[in-house]
Amino acid sequence: MVKQIQIAIDGPAGAGKSTIAKIVAEKLGFTYIDTGAMYRAVTYKALTHNIKLNDADSLEKMLLDTMIVLKPSQNGQLVFVDGKDVTQEIRSNEVTSNVSEVAAHANIREILVAKQQELAANGGIVMDGRDIATHVLKDAELKIFMSASVEERAKRRFFDNERRGIPSTMEKLREEIALRDKLDSEREASPLVQAEDAIYLDTTELSIEQAADAILELANETGK
Ligand code: CDP
Ligand code: CDP
Repeated sequence: MVKQIQIAIDGPAGAGKSTIAKIVAEKLGFTYIDTGAMYRAVTYKALTHNIKLNDADSLEKMLLDTMIVLKPSQNGQLVFVDGKDVTQEIRSNEVTSNVSEVAAHANIREILVAKQQELAANGGIVMDGRDIATHVLKDAELKIFMSASVEERAKRRFFDNERRGIPSTMEKLREEIALRDKLDSEREASPLVQAEDAIYLDTTELSIEQAADAILELANETGK
């Protein structure tokens, strides 16, 4: 039995974080939390309520009056905003291309980070995002920084979109991913950066199973 540790997984879009985190959590009997879904949920609500994404105060006011619920299910994590299932909607191209602007606001991050810390407080958790190891769960027993080449990440997203019926081209995806990487890494508030004590895992050449096994091995060692 592995102890109820906290596992933090950070990295850029398409690295494989959510897919692999979900498998690792299932195998360990831990809870999986996709923090990106929270930033997407806020962006979705702001877009549908015509709130300017550069207006941090209005966004905060909106967020304080919003209920975001993450629910694990057989088909992965479901996301509810004010009682409505928006699991599909938050993956739209419009949300994807605007989420980094919303996530750059320090006041919005503060509110969501507090919620994430609350969810992780009892351990037995695998949480993925951009600032989990550096900020949200600084004391996590196991920290992974997952990445892959931009080319490979765009290819993965392309097939994801095809499966979900979201229109896209490789060229557009490469651009969108590179821009999001830049915005997420260069923002002032908790930028995407590898924590000093995180283990780097390049998944470019790894299958999902190989990447999950690598983390499970580390988790078993850490949580002995
Ligand atoms: O799934 P994908 O890698 O495309 O992105 P995501 O995990 O759903 O995150 C969407 C966006 O939310 C990221 O590009 C970041 O701008 C933001 N995010 C963040 O700032 N901090 C986190 N802990 C998680 C996501
Ligand atoms: O959460 P993140 O944006 O880091 O990536 P993801 O949504 O978990 O993975 C993007 C896509 O790449 C998914 O369809 C995964 O099944 C796929 N993937 C892969 O083909 N090989 C890997 N080693 C990891 C993920």
